[in-house]
Amino acid sequence: MTSSTGAARLIQLMARGAEFLGSEVAILCGAMSWVSERNLVAAMSNAGGFGLIACGAMTPELLDAEIAATKALTDKPFGVNLITMHPLLTDLIAVCTRHQVTHVVLAGGLPPAGSLEAIKAGGAKLICFAPALSLAKKLIRSGVDALVVEGMEAGGHIGPVSTSVLAQEILPEVADKVPVFVAGGIGRGEAIAAYLEMGAAGVQLGTRFVCATESIAHPNFKKAFLRASARDAVASVQLDPRLPVIPVRALKNAGGELFSAKQREVALSLDDGKTAMAEAQLQIEHYWAGALRRAVIDGDVEHGSVMAGQSVGMVTKEEPIADIIAALVGEAEVALAKRG
Ligand SMILES: Cc1cc2nc3c(=O)[nH]c(=O)nc-3n(C[C@H](O)[C@H](O)[C@H](O)COP(=O)(O)O)c2cc1C
Repeated sequence: MTSSTGAARLIQLMARGAEFLGSEVAILCGAMSWVSERNLVAAMSNAGGFGLIACGAMTPELLDAEIAATKALTDKPFGVNLITMHPLLTDLIAVCTRHQVTHVVLAGGLPPAGSLEAIKAGGAKLICFAPALSLAKKLIRSGVDALVVEGMEAGGHIGPVSTSVLAQEILPEVADKVPVFVAGGIGRGEAIAAYLEMGAAGVQLGTRFVCATESIAHPNFKKAFLRASARDAVASVQLDPRLPVIPVRALKNAGGELFSAKQREVALSLDDGKTAMAEAQLQIEHYWAGALRRAVIDGDVEHGSVMAGQSVGMVTKEEPIADIIAALVGEAEVALAKRG
């Protein structure tokens, strides 16, 4: 088979995901707090992929401004990633509806009561993370339009299971029901081709896009990525089993110690009865948002959090996002052409 046949096969395998997203290729740039703002999101969608604004801890007013600014930079579809535990989730959904955002991703747990209905009533397609087969089935029953299956190789907050195992468990069971996008540890097109052949509708990458020219991440943050290898991207350690701490994968640095200190502080205030469990979780999440900001925006890659996935070793240069997509697509095409 020639690589033009590889190209035709890739288009065929990505057709369902691309149609769902309204993009040329079924590759999402996963939302990354502080990194996935107007510039990266618009560049991703303009390059034929699908960008997602990371709402993170933004207020409804800030999200409103970010969506408007992104729309000014692209007329291609893009989505918004909201976090389930945000105290103003309902207002954030209303902002998305007002802007007629076409796709909303809900991250950080199952959709809270009423949120799924509100998102769909606003006309957006809802995408949720499925950390296990049982939850994938439950989410589909409750009416989500697509799933992201993300393994522990990923950067940022992670679950306990690897991408390859989740893909094998979940794709054969549910890929015919809703589009499933596989995420975590994908650095090259060969892996994209493999997951598509297993039934994925597309893929989501984060780490690979951090060093895009259009990414506003601080030069120190990008340098840390370019220097790092897979084994430098480690999961955070949970000190107190009572604390609802979701592990975070980031580059090893002194910030790991600061997180331990934060956990001790929150655990003590739980002991004293000064803090309830939900508030403790929120405090931990605020800690991460602050630590990530310190690294991404301020460039303090020693004390901040340099969230990165294990694919970080495959990030070797700063380059335009269109070139990254072209490289991924080219590798996938060659891999598919070789199948014969
Ligand atoms: C720096 C960084 C920040 C991230 N922030 C978020 C976030 O705010 N919300 C979210 O749902 N996922 C977040 N993620 C996960 C990405 O959206 C994406 O799913 C993940 O990076 C895919 O795995 P990969 O890193 O192996 O490519 C983040 C990842 C990175 C590397």
